[in-house]
Amino acid sequence: MTAIRRVTEIPGPKGRAILERRANAVPRGLARSTDVVVESGDGALVHDVDGNTLIDLAGGIGMIATGHCPPAVVGAIEAQARRLLHTCALVATYEPYIALCELLNEVTPGDFSKKTLLANSGAEAVENAVKLARAYTKRAGILCFEGGYHGRTLLTLSLTSKYGLFKQGFGPFAPEIYRIPAPDVYRRPAAMAEDAYVEACVAQLERALVAQIDPAALAAIIIEPVQGEAGFIPVPHRFLRRIRELCTQHGIVMIADEVQTGFGRTGTLFAVEHSGVVPDLVTMAKALGAGLPISATTGRAEIMDAAHVGGVGGTYGGSPVACAAAIEAVQMIREPAFLAHARRIGDVMRDELERMQRSSSLIGDVRGLGPMLLIELVTDRETKAPAATHAIAVIKRSVANGVVLIRAGLYSNCVRFMPPLSITEDQVREGLAVVGEAIRHVEEHGP
Ligand SMILES: Cc1ncc(COP(=O)(O)O)c(C=O)c1O
Repeated sequence: MTAIRRVTEIPGPKGRAILERRANAVPRGLARSTDVVVESGDGALVHDVDGNTLIDLAGGIGMIATGHCPPAVVGAIEAQARRLLHTCALVATYEPYIALCELLNEVTPGDFSKKTLLANSGAEAVENAVKLARAYTKRAGILCFEGGYHGRTLLTLSLTSKYGLFKQGFGPFAPEIYRIPAPDVYRRPAAMAEDAYVEACVAQLERALVAQIDPAALAAIIIEPVQGEAGFIPVPHRFLRRIRELCTQHGIVMIADEVQTGFGRTGTLFAVEHSGVVPDLVTMAKALGAGLPISATTGRAEIMDAAHVGGVGGTYGGSPVACAAAIEAVQMIREPAFLAHARRIGDVMRDELERMQRSSSLIGDVRGLGPMLLIELVTDRETKAPAATHAIAVIKRSVANGVVLIRAGLYSNCVRFMPPLSITEDQVREGLAVVGEAIRHVEEHGP
């Protein structure tokens, strides 16, 4: 039996009416990648307001790792909501906040003494990491990477790339931010071997610490172990290791931004685990809350303790209900069977996507790490000219046929797959078959 069920076109009449209200009530700057209007969700499926059922291969941009409305999480939310909604952690202490911090101190990489600060969004977690790194090192500089995405508050937007989409009109940006290219193996110079290219990137990093900023003035280097928004670009282990070495050598705080990669997305609890590198601070959000707004900054206790009393915090950060959801979600994801299933889903997806690539010249690259996978669409495999309008057309047709999808990539020409990691093999195969048909259609008929 198939999972997708279409009873109207997508969106149907009820969905279209709500989209019209959205256009009138909500600013146009809040983009939407699909016209799906959701009423409910369970597991890897979403049900729209017109009665259609779609397979969700976007998973709320990776937030829904444990599926829509997992009963254990919903139960914990209900129980907590009956006991206490909030007091604000700046006012009084409640146990779920402490229990979640203890859990994150335990499960994040590194066997040193750690502490955790909770907030509401990924951007806030990154802001806190930067503030704490500056307070600890008494330095201002932050080194980040082209393609990086760290959020939309002014400091995190300053760290974020992709000017046209995210930044135009919003400057001036925060000072003391330095940016160099991150390795992008797919788009390396044509004649260059992969190893030589990665070495050249390492040399560029070392050169930046002479040419752009002295390491003694650098508070932190922040990197996504797999660049998300840039197009699921795994950072080579050699490059991550060199960052670690430089940070250790010069007393710089290494921040791994795991907001998108964290909590099983790459088949391990954290993506840095693949490289063996242990960062000083880790930022987390998305899958942490299973849909509730919560984020965390976890790391070395001495860095986390660097701010003066009153220097960090906020009204809502780590609300009891969000903490209860997060404790349940983290416990689910850290189970070896859950992570083994996630890796298995990754294998199935990679097989299917590579099979599609063999029969479609539109797919220039299939890449990612574990189940964090993406296809990059190009109009020419030699020149790698980005096929952004094709990506839009593939997504549009996939959505019309019952699959929720989103784009990614510096050139907005990638289709990314971030299904709930609890998705079944049958569901993922059914969803990808719809995407495969959309790719064939767009290749034949144009975008
Ligand atoms: C790596 C990374 N960091 C930070 C953020 C910002 O998170 P939020 O949207 O919760 O502020 C994102 C969001 O996509 C992200 O992918």
